[in-house]
Amino acid sequence: MMMIIINVLIVLLLRCQPQSALPQFDQQPEAPVELDVLSCPLSCVCQYAAFNELPIARWVNYMTSAEEGPDDTDFPLTTHIKLATCLLQEASETLALLSALPIDLQALVLLHTGSPDNQLTVNTSSLRFLNQLNTLEIRGTGATTLIIDEPLELLQHANFEQIRLQASERLQRPKHSKLPSDDYEYKPPSDVAGNEATPKYQLQFEADATVEIMSYEQHVERLKQTRMPSFWGWNLLEVLRIHNCQLNELHWQMFDGLPQLHHLNLERNGIEEVQPFAFSGAPHLKSLSLAHNAVSRLYYLGLAGLLELETLNLADNHLERLSELSFPPLPRLQRADLRQNPIKYILPATFWVMNDTLELQLGSELAALKLHSWNSYGQFDSLHKLRKLSLANVTTPSLEQGVFKGLQALEQLTLRGRIGSVQFDAFAGMEQLRELDMSHCGIAELSMDALLGVKRLELLNLAHNNLTHVPNGLLDDQQQLVVVQLQGNQLRTLPTSFFQQPRLRVVRLDQNPWQCNCDMSNWLPRLTNVVRGPSVERCVRDINGKPILCRHVVSYKMDKNLVPRCANFNGRSVYYVLRRQLHCGAPLILTPSRSGNTRGLPHWLKLELQQHRQQQQQQQKVGSSNKKQSLKRQRKGHLSQRNRLDYIFRQKHQQRNEEFSQETEDKQMSNEI
Ligand SMILES: *[C@@H]1O[C@H](CO)[C@@H](O)[C@H](O)[C@H]1NC(C)=O
Ligand SMILES: *[C@@H]1O[C@H](CO)[C@@H](O)[C@H](O)[C@H]1NC(C)=O
Ligand SMILES: *[C@@H]1O[C@H](CO)[C@@H](O)[C@H](O)[C@H]1NC(C)=O
Ligand SMILES: *[C@@H]1O[C@H](CO)[C@@H](O)[C@H](O)[C@H]1NC(C)=O
Repeated sequence: MMMIIINVLIVLLLRCQPQSALPQFDQQPEAPVELDVLSCPLSCVCQYAAFNELPIARWVNYMTSAEEGPDDTDFPLTTHIKLATCLLQEASETLALLSALPIDLQALVLLHTGSPDNQLTVNTSSLRFLNQLNTLEIRGTGATTLIIDEPLELLQHANFEQIRLQASERLQRPKHSKLPSDDYEYKPPSDVAGNEATPKYQLQFEADATVEIMSYEQHVERLKQTRMPSFWGWNLLEVLRIHNCQLNELHWQMFDGLPQLHHLNLERNGIEEVQPFAFSGAPHLKSLSLAHNAVSRLYYLGLAGLLELETLNLADNHLERLSELSFPPLPRLQRADLRQNPIKYILPATFWVMNDTLELQLGSELAALKLHSWNSYGQFDSLHKLRKLSLANVTTPSLEQGVFKGLQALEQLTLRGRIGSVQFDAFAGMEQLRELDMSHCGIAELSMDALLGVKRLELLNLAHNNLTHVPNGLLDDQQQLVVVQLQGNQLRTLPTSFFQQPRLRVVRLDQNPWQCNCDMSNWLPRLTNVVRGPSVERCVRDINGKPILCRHVVSYKMDKNLVPRCANFNGRSVYYVLRRQLHCGAPLILTPSRSGNTRGLPHWLKLELQQHRQQQQQQQKVGSSNKKQSLKRQRKGHLSQRNRLDYIFRQKHQQRNEEFSQETEDKQMSNEI
C-alpha cells in the first residue's frame, strides 16, 4: 500500500516539477519493471529499465543532443540500468534511507518535498558507498543543500535543481603549481594593435589559511571561498546541469580538473559575471549554456580555453553590446545562441574568433538591433562558414549593401523587425542562400536588384510586410524558387512575369488588396491556394519491406481559404472574378513587353530595358503619372553612360514574344478551379 502511494507521488512529482528549459515529451515511457522490491527502501521506487526509457534520460539526452554524430551513444537503448527514485521528507531519516539503497545502484533520483523551511542536507560522502552510481539527480525546493565533502569519482551525469551546493570545510582542494592564466597568450585585435586597453589578467594564488588576524570582510570572503562548491576529483563527470541553484558566482576553481566534462548547463542561477578562466579547468567542454542568467558584460577571458566548444548558449541575459573583446578564440564553435539579450550594436570584428561557426542567432524584444555597414569591416566578417543566421528586431530604415558582407556560405537568413527598404545588392555574395525569410519586417520598398547575386533561392518569404508593389525583374535570377510568400501586404498588381520560375510550388498571395483585371489570367490556383505541409519520409525498400534508403519529401496541401481576393470586386476570389465577371477566359496572349525576361542580363541593361518599357507604356497611356517621371529622372544617371541598346532590346523582345504565346497557352489549360 505504502509502495503504491509513493509510486503515485513520484510520478506526480516528476511530472509537476517546474522544468522550464526542458522540452516536454509527449509519450510517457511505459512503466519499467520493478525489481528488488525487498532491498528497495520504503520511500523509494526501484526500477530496472533501458536508460532511454527512464525519466533521467530526458535531461541527459537534452544536453547531449547538442552534440551531433555517432559517438553520441553512451547508452544505447538496450543498456539496462538500475534506478532508484526516492522521496526525501524528514532530515532525520535521510541517512538511514540512503544507506538502505541497493549497493549496485547505477542511477539515483532524490526528490525533496515539503515546505521551504523543511531544511534538509545530503552529503556526497553518504553516497560514495554506491560504487556503481553513474547518474545522480537531486531536486529540491530551495531548502535542500548538497554538501560536497568528498568527490564522487565515478559519477558521469549529475543534475541539480533548486538546491544549494556547498563545499564542506573538510573538502580537499588541489594545490596548484600552475594557474590557467599563466600561459594564456591570446590578445584580441585591438590589443594587438598596441593600445593596451586590457592589461593581461593574472589569477592569484589564495592567501594561505594560516593568516591569523583577519578583518571581518576577509573572514566573510574566506568563508565564501571555503563554501564555494568544487567538483575537483569528479574525474568521470561528462554531463553537469546546475539549474536554478543560486550559483551566482562562478570561480575558476569550481570546474577545475574536469577532463571528461563535455556538457555544462548553468541556467537560471542569477549569474552576473563570467569570471576570467571560469571554465578553463574543463578544457573539453563541447556545450555550455549560461542561458537565463543576468550576465551583462562578456569579457573574452571569461570563456578562455574552450578550444573544443561547439555549442554556446547565452540567450536571455543582459548583454548590451558585442565587440572584439567579448569572445576568445572558439575555433570549433558551431552554434551560438545570443537571443533575448538587449544587444543594440555589433561592433566590427566581434566574430573574428568564430570563423568556423555554422549557426548564429541574435536579437530580442528588449532592444532594437542596429545593423551597419561599417566602413571597412562588416559586423559579420569572418563568419565565412556560417550557414544559418537569424536576427530578430533588426531596426534600420534601409538594409544596405555590405551589411552582410562576408557571409558567403549562408544558406538560411531570417530577419524580423522594422526594415524600411531593401537596397540593391543587399545580399550580394550569398551564392548559397536557399531560404530568405523577411516576413514581419514592415518592408515598404524593395529594390528590383535586391536579390542580385543570389541564385539558389528556394524559399522567399516576404509575408506581412508593407509592400505596395513587387518590382519588375525581382525574381529574374531565381530559377530554383519553390515557395514565394507575399500574403499580408498591400499589393494591388503583380508583374506579369511573376509565375515563370520552373520549380514553383507555392505562391501565397492572400490578404492583399488586389485590383483585379485580365492581366491576372496567368495566376494559378494550384500555386496560390497551397501550403507546404509536413515533410514525409519516402523510402526505397528491399524485398522484405526493410527500408534501404530514405529521404524526407515535402508535401503540399490545397487550401481554398488561401485564394487571393479582389479588393475592387467586393473581396471575391480572383479566379471567380476573372472567369465570371471579367470574362478573361479566352486564351490570352500576354504582352511580354511589360515584363520581358531579363534573366542573366547585367544590372545596367535591366534598367535600360525598364526605361524602354516605360516609354512604351507612356505612349499608350497619355498623361503618365508624376511618379514615373521622377523615377525616370533618378535613373538618368545610370543611363547616361550607356549607348544605343534599343536594337538589342528589340531583337530580344521579338524572340521572346514567340516563346511567350506558346507558354501562355500551356498554362491556360490548368487555370480552372
Ligand atoms: C555531512 O558532513 C558533515 C561534516 O562535513 C557532518 O557534520 C554532517 O553531520 C554530515 N551530514 C549528513 C546529513 O550526513
Ligand atoms: C580561423 O582563424 C584561425 C586563427 O585566426 C586560423 O588559424 C584558421 O585557419 C581560421 N579558419 C578558417 C576556416 O578560416
Ligand atoms: C524591438 O525593440 C524595441 C526596444 O528598442 C521594443 O520596444 C520592441 O517591442 C521590439 N520589437 C519587437 C518586435 O520585439
Ligand atoms: C505601411 O505604410 C503606410 C503608408 O506608407 C504607413 O502609414 C504604415 O504605418 C506602414 N505600416 C507599417 C507596419 O510599417
